[in-house]
Amino acid sequence: MAEILGLGLSHFGGFMFPDEAMAARVAAQLADGSLPPALDRPDKWPAPMRDEWGGDAGAAHAARHRAAYFDGLDRGRAALEDFDPDAVVIFGDDQYECFREDLVPPYCVFAGDRFALRPFARARAVGGESGNIWGEPADTEIAIRGAPDVARAVLNALSESGFDPAYSLRLPHQDFLGHAFANTLTYLDHRRTGWRWPVVPFAINAYGAALIRAKGGLDATPQTLGCEPDPPGPTPARCFDMGAAIAPRLAESRWRVALVATASFSHAFLTAKNHYLYPDMKSDRARHAELAAGAYRAWRDISLAAFEEAGEHELLNWCPLLGAMDALGRPPPAFCALYESWLMNSNKVVTVIPPV
Ligand SMILES: [Fe+2]
Repeated sequence: MAEILGLGLSHFGGFMFPDEAMAARVAAQLADGSLPPALDRPDKWPAPMRDEWGGDAGAAHAARHRAAYFDGLDRGRAALEDFDPDAVVIFGDDQYECFREDLVPPYCVFAGDRFALRPFARARAVGGESGNIWGEPADTEIAIRGAPDVARAVLNALSESGFDPAYSLRLPHQDFLGHAFANTLTYLDHRRTGWRWPVVPFAINAYGAALIRAKGGLDATPQTLGCEPDPPGPTPARCFDMGAAIAPRLAESRWRVALVATASFSHAFLTAKNHYLYPDMKSDRARHAELAAGAYRAWRDISLAAFEEAGEHELLNWCPLLGAMDALGRPPPAFCALYESWLMNSNKVVTVIPPV
């Protein structure tokens, strides 16, 4: 019987940018007049957010936020080094990258034997040419190995458990992995010592009914009134149960597998009730407390509407990990840190759940 390592982290693209550029989204909201009068100046914001903005438009907070988060990443990387998996299965959202108008599955396992990363491709598209903290060329491309046999085992475990998974041997629409996977691998190698483990990208339509309309959630255009909404993504329960179906099968396999959930918690740009300015702190603290306590099952029956109301759409990427840990009877995480930020779009969590 092989072992399974559980990891969770964020793929917040902003960490790639210089400190002064990390609050660019909020600076743009201040400049474009989209905030309501009650929030249209920093002195009107909640006190912790005002403090983060400080006298330098958030630059000092950005540095602290990144440093704290990267310390957490070091815990995750150390766990990976210790565990030395045969494959790393990453649950991440597709934000209008491979899931586009021609085909939108609820989830899809990419079973290729080789993938390319272009870690700065999306950051450049979204944030402009502001450079990256490593000073690497914007067109950097990195080749990584896939794990098609492990991908097939994941797919077969799902099929045998009543799921109908999609899979693809090629990436549609782009020949490099989407931001969730690219950023995850980039951050887990933030010290640039190299990445050596084969990867199975498991993409989830975490943006659900908004995927096509908002092209990955980067604008908040509401659904056209009077139209039938686009179909939703999978539910938290479905994603949780997927993890619960996969984990026992992999635990019985000959492979040592790391299961990695990648997503920030609530995203400001998805949190309508906060005028898209800051994330849902209360809900994130509750989800983190459940996770830290090992109450994995607590997430299973949260409704998709509750996730979306809290801007926690991407927590669907975490649900398979929690389902897996629940199915394996894992105790609480060995490490589970919450990195709050009102200003940097989202709260982040890093967790390490090692084999017992
Ligand atoms: Fe994402």
